Amino acid sequence: MKYKIAIIPGDGIGPEVINEAHKVLNRIQKKYGHTFEYTDLLAGGAAIDTTGKCLPKETVEGAKGSDAVLLGAVGGPKWDYLPGDERPERALLGLRKELALFANLRPAIMFHQLRDACPLKEEKVKGGLDILVVRELTGGIYFGEKGYKQTDMGEAAFDVEQYSTGEIIRVAKVAFDMAMKRDKKVTSVDKANVLESSRLWRKTVAQVAQEYPQVELNNMYIDNTTMQLVYNPKQFDVILTSNIFGDILSDEASMITGSIGMLPSASLSTGNFGMYEPVHGSAPDIAGTGKANPMATILSAAMMLKYTFGLSEESQAIETSVKKVLSMGYRTPDIAVAGDKVATTTKIGDLIAENI
Ligand code: IPM
Ligand code: MG
Repeated sequence: MKYKIAIIPGDGIGPEVINEAHKVLNRIQKKYGHTFEYTDLLAGGAAIDTTGKCLPKETVEGAKGSDAVLLGAVGGPKWDYLPGDERPERALLGLRKELALFANLRPAIMFHQLRDACPLKEEKVKGGLDILVVRELTGGIYFGEKGYKQTDMGEAAFDVEQYSTGEIIRVAKVAFDMAMKRDKKVTSVDKANVLESSRLWRKTVAQVAQEYPQVELNNMYIDNTTMQLVYNPKQFDVILTSNIFGDILSDEASMITGSIGMLPSASLSTGNFGMYEPVHGSAPDIAGTGKANPMATILSAAMMLKYTFGLSEESQAIETSVKKVLSMGYRTPDIAVAGDKVATTTKIGDLIAENI
């Protein structure tokens, strides 16, 4: 089969990690007889430098004309002087909105080979961790009305948190569908003791839950959840939450696995279309040093094969190879401890490709 993949390398370590994902995808296409047709697109700082805009129209069109998008990372201090709506990060929000990527899947998995990198005590994570954060991605405070106004306390700025039942239902269904394939537990996170939007969220999620009698639904306040994640992370299977809470919780969840440089993500719309990217950022401080960990991007490519192309075996082959390379002791510096074989970005990419 032929698949059209839009590639957005982006900034900082983005192009370096994308390069390694390329190698791995090329190995897959050879081994399994697929054709991946790549189109390189500009977004973020790279697009600002070339076109003056962080998200050129051609990029949105190119992405829409593809079956899936694979993105490295965007942003860096070079563009810090720009106003908020022109910064590289805006490109991400623009892509999410334009491509209607309303459901963001962020798995936080502890690789047993990286146990020592987990900052929690052994007893808290015994048997490993496997949490899936499902974050609403095109609504809420990130996309609500925003602006400035004068008040008697001086100038004020505001960002509105707003959710419609339609927005809540569609992302909740993704979370429940995922839970059905996992441990059948959804924790819906909100701040319903204070926020009206959270009360509607909670009520609507409860309605969706009725369609999934086998799934256990728990509601939890965001403040409690941040605490429960470090106190008893094993209680979680799928976490369903809003855009802003999901942004925060997914960073926390990934850190407790000790694998932040390892974690992939998928942003899905209706149908099979999706954008795939590592959870980590553009890490400008290590760009060009060969220290970047390409595993999160390679695992994002694996998620793309599974969720957009339905190629589960191929996806699994990548995951297995990543674990094998870890078991062989190879690590980039971010996850290395004494005794590991510290390897460069390209070496890790070569090893993962070779071992498929
Ligand atoms: C993320 C990032 C983005 C977000 C930023 C870079 C706009 O933090 O993907 O989690 O807030 O969504
Ligand atoms: Mg974030």
